Amino acid sequence: MYIPRKVLTNRDLEALVDTDDAWIQTRTGIRERHIAADNETASTMGIEAGRRALAVAALAPEEIELVIAATSTTEHIFPSCASLAQHGLGARNAAAFDVNAACSGFVHALVIGGQFVTTGAYKKVLIIGTEVYSRILDWHDRSTCVLFGDGAGAVVLEARKGSPGPFSFVLGSDGARADLIYAPGVCGAPNVTSVNGQHWLHMNGREVYKFAVKTVCDAVLQAVAAAGLRIEDIDFFIPHQANDRIIKAVARNLGLPDDKVFSNVDRYGNTSSASIPIALCEAVEQGRLKDGDNLAMVGFGSGLSWGAVVMRWAPRLNDE
Ligand code: UT7
Repeated sequence: MYIPRKVLTNRDLEALVDTDDAWIQTRTGIRERHIAADNETASTMGIEAGRRALAVAALAPEEIELVIAATSTTEHIFPSCASLAQHGLGARNAAAFDVNAACSGFVHALVIGGQFVTTGAYKKVLIIGTEVYSRILDWHDRSTCVLFGDGAGAVVLEARKGSPGPFSFVLGSDGARADLIYAPGVCGAPNVTSVNGQHWLHMNGREVYKFAVKTVCDAVLQAVAAAGLRIEDIDFFIPHQANDRIIKAVARNLGLPDDKVFSNVDRYGNTSSASIPIALCEAVEQGRLKDGDNLAMVGFGSGLSWGAVVMRWAPRLNDE
């Protein structure tokens, strides 16, 4: 993972908009978030996260055959963030493309990468989730600017010998509710400019909240069943880090105890498609996600879109 250095606390936000630390903490669980420096972008942060993931996997960049970047805030419409990362990392044998499914982008990218690995088309795939929502927020809108933060995370998927663990997924979209959370694009949308903030993010928080709690539970249960497991078989659960109240409600509805559920939204806010790989990285570093665990992850957000995946967390290949 790569997290920009600058921290923006709830107290800092009190000076920007009519809000207070107690409201933000009670409604969201967020205490602080990180904000990219002027010279940082989705691709620069993604490259750094990718570099660290390759180091953890003990792989040379030339061994990677595909780079997928999940992002909705990259600096260009084209070239893709993944192409910039492929070059920045020196992954000169890799193909590269982006996936944009907003906050569920990482799960979509993971599922796509998983298809290449399970078919044997590619053996080593780098998946990056990277976002700079600070650049599309209206810093005068208290209902959205307190919620998001910047950051990046990355994982390497590798084919392995032996019996595969479960790898099931559920992806979904309800484009009829596209208006609940959107950010107009300055390049493609008619008459939209960044000068007067027309590109800022808009969200109906209450409706997205209701969608999140219901759809996330259904998607996780479907993915667990598709893996031939029961919810009790899930050892660890990493939901998209949007709001601690959503995380707790989902865990309660699924009947998952607190010690199986990961949350770090208090320190990073909602980093969109970077939230799950950042959480995954911290869960491993903290020893909470263990080798052999059945892992469930779920993302949800603009589209509306959602994605749940169930897989076994296996030891690194060089540890075997
Ligand atoms: O990544 C996926 C995308 N996003 C999400 O998952 C977000 C999902 N939604 C949420 O997390 C919650 O709906 C929010 C945290 C956005 C809002 O919480 P809420 O409990 O649904 O509050 P609300 O929007 O119903 O607003 C309650 C009150 C309103 O005042 P009135 O109308 O009751 O007088 C708001 O104006 O809180 C007010 N409010 C604030 N007050 C202080 C809204 N934002 C703030 C704020 N500080 N930052």
